[in-house]
Amino acid sequence: MYYIGVDLGTSAVKLILTDADGKIVNSVSKEYPLYFPNPGWSEQKPEDWKEAVFAGLKELIRDCDASLVKGISFGGQMHGLVVLDEEDRVIRPAILWNDGRTQKETDYLNHVIGKDALSEETANIAFAGFTAPKILWMKENEPENYAKIKKIMLPKDYIAYVLTGVFSTDYSDASGMLLLDVKNKKWSKKMCEICGVDETMLPKLYESYEVTGTIKSEIAKEIGLPENVKVCAGAGDNAAAAIGTGIVGEGGCNISLGTSGTVFISSKQFRVDENNALHSFDHADGNYHLMGCMLSAASCNKWWMEEILKTKEYGKEQEAIGKLGENHIFFLPYLMGERSPHNDPDARGTFIGLTMDSTREDMTQAVLEGVAFGLRDSVEVARSLGIPLTKTRICGGGAKSPLWRKIIANVMNLEVERIASEEGPGLGAAILAMAGCGEYESVAKAVEAVVEVTDTEKPDPELVKKYEEKYQMFKMIYPACKPVFESIK
Ligand code: XUL
Repeated sequence: MYYIGVDLGTSAVKLILTDADGKIVNSVSKEYPLYFPNPGWSEQKPEDWKEAVFAGLKELIRDCDASLVKGISFGGQMHGLVVLDEEDRVIRPAILWNDGRTQKETDYLNHVIGKDALSEETANIAFAGFTAPKILWMKENEPENYAKIKKIMLPKDYIAYVLTGVFSTDYSDASGMLLLDVKNKKWSKKMCEICGVDETMLPKLYESYEVTGTIKSEIAKEIGLPENVKVCAGAGDNAAAAIGTGIVGEGGCNISLGTSGTVFISSKQFRVDENNALHSFDHADGNYHLMGCMLSAASCNKWWMEEILKTKEYGKEQEAIGKLGENHIFFLPYLMGERSPHNDPDARGTFIGLTMDSTREDMTQAVLEGVAFGLRDSVEVARSLGIPLTKTRICGGGAKSPLWRKIIANVMNLEVERIASEEGPGLGAAILAMAGCGEYESVAKAVEAVVEVTDTEKPDPELVKKYEEKYQMFKMIYPACKPVFESIK
């Protein structure tokens, strides 16, 4: 039997075909454009996702016996606002997770409705990229579009809707809308009221591994899939990535180094940290998780390499880096503002500490280190909650770099475990399909059978000490720059 995992990312959709043991038989990636219509805004066209997914699925199964495909599921970029009218037409481009236009609405939610009330209702406070503030933004800025809304959905749920005709979402992804009562797994009536959302506009809620339907027969025919392929709800990309790296149950940690950077901590208990510095969301295994999210992680490195140094030779640039722990240059990785821990859409990227003898290599190293320090901010919040972290798994494009894994292990003082497959969310999605189709008795059992750790980067006490000093310096930079960020916006 075969399973398909679709990872609907920000730069591309990555699709994988696996056998029932989770061995990857084929993989395909299709890019689509990302639009920045104003500084700090970030949009994509759902129609572009659809085209890429259809083309990707056709290519994925071209050389296999497609009659053996049993299930398909998704990991999707979270928080994106997709709105459809009464004819199921997309009303406007999707407003993405890293879009910073909703400062006014976020302030209204956090300070007029109040953080305590939001946290009570949803387990979270408002962040600019979350879905609810975007609905309020549409109401204020695009009243004609707002009036047309009949369905509100998240990016991967749009694809599932096109494929199946079933209007569904899962608890992990719905958690990031600020419309879900995360603890009790139901839509919050109060939040719907605040945002002017009728509950009929929201999808039906499922566990990530539950079957929601099958592919419409005309679409199955067009793609070349059998009609009885089961579609499982899937998960937000971070929950899917955690499944793909085996982080289920209690107290596991996964770091994702993709366009965004996340620290994901699985938990059997529902919990909220009193400052809401970490998101408190449902997990795709049926439990819960805490998560910190940086808006720009591997994307900082991509920007530095491709836009500034004009090279794609990431490995070559990193090979030239000498000593770790002694860099005198620091980089603030806030190229799209920052979510965790600063919740500041006006924060900006910054190099600091340059001298006449600074080199290209020092600056490349500062970018990698700046992202690691930014992620450590979330690790520190988790530690302050008494969560004992000694190791983490890692996935995402940035995790391919041995140097970056080493920097992370030593900046965090954590053992960093790498998995056989780098396809975190895609593999997680395929695992959810396996569990949903009954190939394994639970997500946890599927993970046990499929996920394999291939190597571990252990922290070196000497280097940990050096990075500890550097981290304390890094922590001083954002507060010092904050007034400048405010005045240059
Ligand atoms: C998580 C978040 C990002 C996106 C990236 O809260 O906003 O990790 O899911 O796709």
